[in-house]
Amino acid sequence: MSFRYIGSKARLRHAIAKHLRAVGEGKSLFVDLFCGTGAVAEVAADLGWRIRINDHLHCATTMAAARLIAVGQVPFNALRGYRKTVDILNALPPRRGFMWRQYSPASFQAVGVERRYFTRTNACRIDAIRKRISEWRESDLLTDAEHVLLIADLLSATNRVANIAGTYGCFLSRWTPQSQDRLEMRCRSLRVEPVEVVATTTDASNVLVQRDDFVYLDPPYTKRQYASYYHILETITLGDQPRVEGVAGLRPWRHLASAYCYKVQALKALRALISGMASSRILLSYSAEAQIPIRVLKIALSELGLVSCDAVQSIGRYRPNPVASHGTATVKEYLLTLRRDAANSLDEIEA
Ligand SMILES: C[S@@+](CC[C@H](N)C(=O)[O-])C[C@H]1O[C@@H](n2cnc3c(N)ncnc32)[C@H](O)[C@@H]1O
Repeated sequence: MSFRYIGSKARLRHAIAKHLRAVGEGKSLFVDLFCGTGAVAEVAADLGWRIRINDHLHCATTMAAARLIAVGQVPFNALRGYRKTVDILNALPPRRGFMWRQYSPASFQAVGVERRYFTRTNACRIDAIRKRISEWRESDLLTDAEHVLLIADLLSATNRVANIAGTYGCFLSRWTPQSQDRLEMRCRSLRVEPVEVVATTTDASNVLVQRDDFVYLDPPYTKRQYASYYHILETITLGDQPRVEGVAGLRPWRHLASAYCYKVQALKALRALISGMASSRILLSYSAEAQIPIRVLKIALSELGLVSCDAVQSIGRYRPNPVASHGTATVKEYLLTLRRDAANSLDEIEA
C-alpha cells in the first residue's frame, strides 16, 4: 500500500525491522502507540509478534488494522466474496451527500467557498460508497474485519484522486491529472497468516502497557497536527457530518491537538509518557529536524534507563508543497532504544 502520510515509516521499514529483531527479542507483544498507517506494526507482525496498535485518529487505526487482516478473516460471505463486494461498490450510482456538499465545487452554493478537494462526481462516489458500507454494517452483512477493510480501501481510493499536495490541510486551486480520474475501489492483497491484533483509538497516554510488552513510539515530530491535516479521512472513517469551518472545511480538531507537535510541550509529554509506562524495552523513532533536538532527547531518556541511539538511513524530505521544499533533500532519522531491564529498572536508577 502506498499512502502519503507525514512521518510514515514505510521507506524505513526494512531498517527498522533489523532493530526490532535485536531489541524486541524475548518479547511477545508489540505495542505501536502512534501507529499511523501501520507500516511498522505490519513489519512486526511479519516477524511473528502479536500486535497492539493505537492512534488518536480513527482513520489511522483503520488503515493500520486493515494491513493486518488475513484473507481468512474477510470471506464476505453475505456479499459473495471480497472481489464481488468491491465490484458492487464501484458500480453504485453517484449520490449527493456530505462530501459533495462540503468538499467539491458544489460547496460554493452551500458555503460560498469552492473547495476543490474532489471533482463533483468523485465526491458523489465517496458519498455513495460510504453510505452503502454503513447500510451493510447496520444490516449485519459485514463482520468487524470486513467493515474495517472496506473503509480502509475507501480511504486509499480517496487518496488516489484527492486534489491535494499530500495532506488535506488545503486543496489545490488547479486540478491535478489524478484528481480527474474516476474514484475506484481496489482489492488489496491480504496477509496469508492471521495475526492477533488489538486496536484502540485514544491518546497514547491512556494505553496501559505491561512490563513484558515491547513498545514502539513514533510520535509526531513536526508542528503539523495530524487531526487537521487528515480531517477528511477522519470524516470518511467516522461516517459523520460534523460542522466544518474555514476555507479548508476543517472538522473540529483542536481537542486532538497533539502536545508532541509543540516545541515547548513535546519533551515534557514524551518524558511523562515513558515514565508512566511499565515496559522494560522501548524503541523510539525520531528525526534530526524535530521539535526536540536529538542531543536533548538522549539526555532526557538516559534519566529513565539505558539509552542507545542509532541513525537509520536518511529518507527524502516530506514536501507538502513547493514552498516547503527548501533546505536539504533528505532528513536523518534515528532509533533510540531505552532499556529498563531488571538490572537497571527505573526504581534502581532513581534510587
Ligand atoms: C509520525 S506519525 C506515525 C507514523 C507511523 N509510524 C507510520 O509509519 O505510518 C504519528 C502519529 O501519531 C498520532 N498521534 C499524535 N498525537 C497522538 C497522541 N497524543 N496519542 C496517540 N496518537 C497520536 C498521529 O495521528 C499520527 O498518526
